[in-house]
Amino acid sequence: MTVITCIDDLKRIHKRRAPKMFYDYCESGSWTEQTFRENTSDFDKIRLRQRVAVDMSGRSTESTMIGRKVALPTALAPVGICGMQHADGEILAARAAEKFGVPFTLSTMSICSIEDVAEATSAPFWFQLYTQKDTDFTDNLVRRAREAKCEALVITLDLQILGQRHKDLKNGLTAPPKLSVPVLLDLATKWRWGLQMLQTPRREFRNIVGHAKGVGNTRSLHAWTSQNFDQTLDWDKVKRLMDQWGGKVILKGILDGDDAEEAAKLGADAIVVSNHGGRQLDGALSSIRMLPEIVERVGSKTEVWLDSGIRSGQDILKALALGAKGTMIGRAYVYGLGAMGQEGVEKALEVLQREMDISMALCGKQNPSQFGRDMLLVPEDFGGRWQA
Ligand SMILES: Cc1cc2nc3c(=O)[nH]c(=O)nc-3n(C[C@H](O)[C@H](O)[C@H](O)COP(=O)(O)O)c2cc1C
Repeated sequence: MTVITCIDDLKRIHKRRAPKMFYDYCESGSWTEQTFRENTSDFDKIRLRQRVAVDMSGRSTESTMIGRKVALPTALAPVGICGMQHADGEILAARAAEKFGVPFTLSTMSICSIEDVAEATSAPFWFQLYTQKDTDFTDNLVRRAREAKCEALVITLDLQILGQRHKDLKNGLTAPPKLSVPVLLDLATKWRWGLQMLQTPRREFRNIVGHAKGVGNTRSLHAWTSQNFDQTLDWDKVKRLMDQWGGKVILKGILDGDDAEEAAKLGADAIVVSNHGGRQLDGALSSIRMLPEIVERVGSKTEVWLDSGIRSGQDILKALALGAKGTMIGRAYVYGLGAMGQEGVEKALEVLQREMDISMALCGKQNPSQFGRDMLLVPEDFGGRWQA
């Protein structure tokens, strides 16, 4: 039995257990993967300040995100096709989040539907919306999320068109997978995955199939995205969607101060500084580099969260110290899901919480709200000297 001590341990098991096509889908960025790599390597450049002889008893990692109490200041980010990393993946991740006390976000491009997750859980979850050309279908998604009592709508703004990931094209990514010879050879070594998959009826994009009218190929994420995502989405449309939803809104995928200002002006409850985990604009700066500027511009008007690159509790502390009120994690929990389902997601959250708690103590702090800029050592040129 492998002893799991860090997120990397889960990643190794994920790679062993999930079909190559789905592990690669998770572990890739667009084009050269520069932004994907820098999301994590930029966290490494920042150091924590060790403090001693400070009472470290009575600590807590608890915080709040848009008014909700959270066991640690992170939420599970929306991730497409989780139900192919492990059978019923979205349901299992939502259950793990509920048990642990952090929010779960369901992607539009999930395998389990809004209704599947609502039926299998009791804590309110968040729904992430990709707006579609078919406005009836978009309206219908919003209505279904409301009927499922979703607590917030997460509108993703950085994917109206898909950044190219070479591996997905080479692997012929589809959900469920097409049974070609290379896929069958790979599946022969992933028997546990196959057995679990045979036991669930949830093997296609259930937010779409049976809900969207007159659609062709729903197996291919790439084909669906290019044919159906709304490339005309602009701030006016975002505003209309926010009004239509009428509840809490999180605007995700913001990496620029001007865009952050627009989002704050519309009254977003939170914005997520994010480059989609390096999956969209390759060559964009890492989220952690962009965070301080965005916090400075809109931090007093809206909650600023960060995702992209978080792989440890120390990373969460670094984001908080640079002004984030909360964070989201993507791959860090997907590795756990692909490795061992619900238990793996719980493991990932446990790892992050333990790392955060102990590192916080070693920095002489007792809770996340005390963790400010003075707890970091940041290289002088970290922000970079860029000319627009
Ligand atoms: C495999 C995968 C699928 C994703 N699918 C979605 C999605 O459907 N909707 C969305 O808004 N973001 C999606 N994202 C982006 C995540 O929500 C999040 O921004 C990103 O994973 C953060 O980076 P990290 O993985 O380094 O933590 C996806 C990310 C990954 C890794």
